[in-house]
Amino acid sequence: MNRAIPDEIVDEVRSRCNIVDIIGSYIPLKKAGHGTWKALCPFHQEKTPSFNISEQNQHYHCFGCGKGGDVFSFVMEREGVDFPNAIHLLASKCSVVIPEKTYTNPEERRQAQEHASQRERIYAVNEEFAAWYAAQLHEHPESPVAQYLLTRGIPDDIAARFRIGAAPDSWDASFRHGTALGFSEHELFESGILTSNENSGKIYDRFRNRLIFPIWNEQGKVVAFSARTIEKNSEGAKYVNSPETPVFKKGNILYALPLARQEIQKLGFVILCEGQLDVIAMHRAGFCNAVAPQGTAFTDEQARILKRYTDKLYISFDSDSAGIKAAVRALEIVLPMDFEVKIIRFPAGRDPDEIFRDSGSEGLKLMVDGAVDFFDFLCPQIIGQFDQTTPFGKSRSVAEVIPFIRKISQPVARDQYIQKLAGMLNVKPDTVYQELNKIRQNESSAFRSIVKPSADNGQTANAPAEQPVDLPPEIIHAEETLLALALNFEDVCLRLSEELSTEMISPTSIGKALNELIKLTINGEWSNANASLAKINSDSSDSRLSMFLASPKFSMDLIGSKQSLALTKDPSKLDANKNKAVSDNIAAIKKYFFEKQKTELMNKLRNAATPEEKQELLKQLNAIIAPLSSHPPRKPKSDPVI
Ligand code: CTP
Ligand code: MN
Repeated sequence: MNRAIPDEIVDEVRSRCNIVDIIGSYIPLKKAGHGTWKALCPFHQEKTPSFNISEQNQHYHCFGCGKGGDVFSFVMEREGVDFPNAIHLLASKCSVVIPEKTYTNPEERRQAQEHASQRERIYAVNEEFAAWYAAQLHEHPESPVAQYLLTRGIPDDIAARFRIGAAPDSWDASFRHGTALGFSEHELFESGILTSNENSGKIYDRFRNRLIFPIWNEQGKVVAFSARTIEKNSEGAKYVNSPETPVFKKGNILYALPLARQEIQKLGFVILCEGQLDVIAMHRAGFCNAVAPQGTAFTDEQARILKRYTDKLYISFDSDSAGIKAAVRALEIVLPMDFEVKIIRFPAGRDPDEIFRDSGSEGLKLMVDGAVDFFDFLCPQIIGQFDQTTPFGKSRSVAEVIPFIRKISQPVARDQYIQKLAGMLNVKPDTVYQELNKIRQNESSAFRSIVKPSADNGQTANAPAEQPVDLPPEIIHAEETLLALALNFEDVCLRLSEELSTEMISPTSIGKALNELIKLTINGEWSNANASLAKINSDSSDSRLSMFLASPKFSMDLIGSKQSLALTKDPSKLDANKNKAVSDNIAAIKKYFFEKQKTELMNKLRNAATPEEKQELLKQLNAIIAPLSSHPPRKPKSDPVI
């Protein structure tokens, strides 16, 4: 029996298993220097440690007995198992599922080999095309792509270092070049060089008249391409990327890692940028420790890869609201992994590439040197939304910052941040501790609270909250989610009109908008609600509502991302998710409303002066305890307008 495991699974396991963690789970390790560890060799008897592990190389070596290798050979040696079994063992540790492949006949084995050779062919296609695109750029300095590159101020040596290239302005030049090299149409298609029209099935070059950035994997092999338009206001996508292929998984790749890995170690930190051009600017300014996610938001997997090189991460994203949102997502990923995180702040609307072009290495260096601890970036964003002169404003601030503190697993660091927060708000650290223990982690609320339309890089405090309506974060979140849904779907609005009464919804601007939208829907005016909502918005000092009105779809994406509501292509899924979100959030609002009413009635009951009053209050209380019946659906105030 021959259990062959697909190469991509082996790669996946390798990239997920940090050799330090794996060996550390077998024997005690001692840190010897940055990224190096020592231990008593598990393979021979010794009194002083001569067994060394390099985190960067993911390699171990014993100077005593000469044994060495990677994470797989360690497990094979230590557990006395063969390669496939070592992979199975490690795969289960890092939750990689191995598709069971048991080859009992030669045909299956042949197919597996074919698959392996398919990967090799894709690598070969990619390498050939990286060289060819670069040659196109080099050999046609008059071409529009080459001219565009000049406008970006990228000199030849940098273009060569990053292997920047040009895709010809043609529908079939790549196709002709690939077939001339002996690749089949199928191979070119599988590598993503060719694409096809969904309707006609016609096959043509994916990258045309674009600037080409080859994407490497950790080993420096070209696995994909990212291609930028050269037009200013192009109708097509700004970037066209290779699709995922057997050798390219978006979430596993960090742009320029092979160029940056040594420098990351040398400088002791990594700079995480948003895209290729920012990475290139950083490298030109002397920060060759910069990388970027490729064609996707930053992932756990990418964080795990970086963790092998360093414990310090500088986030260098745009200062716009999308950049801030991305930075917060990245924080949510890296904080639990014990990264020390700093944020590089840029003047409004600028990115590293622009800073470099305007003010050169010096300008960019100033920004990097001025990076602030993530907490000093985050807190002003959050705290600035609440009125710090009121007790509830402070309370909300604490509640919104705490989810981030909770993500930090190191007790000492966590403690420091708690003290820092207490200092900023002038409250006792003990109070923050109490909150920390009390508040159920509500990531989405914290996430939502700092994403605002007029993000200003955290430098100024924002308008105070509109009124001191003290709503728990989950109710704020529930109302926001329902508003986002109600703005997108009329049927949601109709359902809300049946299930929520006016007084159940809060008097915040979001709540007011929700009530107004429901009222209009009952009157058949859902589709032209904008004007009325804009009025509420202009009367309000709360900037949240304008975000919803500016882009209902965007807001739903934002709010819904935690509830799998992001506008999915699969309508049946969207419907199911949508209905569940509506039910859950209605339930949350009702529960909160009834609890609040109950408390109020109980208080009144305690202070009731006459038996009649008591009787009346008891009746009301009963009605709440047997709910719903006391809250009939709303009725249209006038006849529906058809
Ligand atoms: N990106 C992408 N697809 C898009 C837009 C962006 O894959 N449609 C990725 C690219 O990797 C890009 C990164 O996101 O490098 C950042 O995008 P953006 O900030 O829009 O581009 P810049 O790098 O700033 O490029 P430029 O300076 O040319 O505007
Ligand atoms: Mn840019």
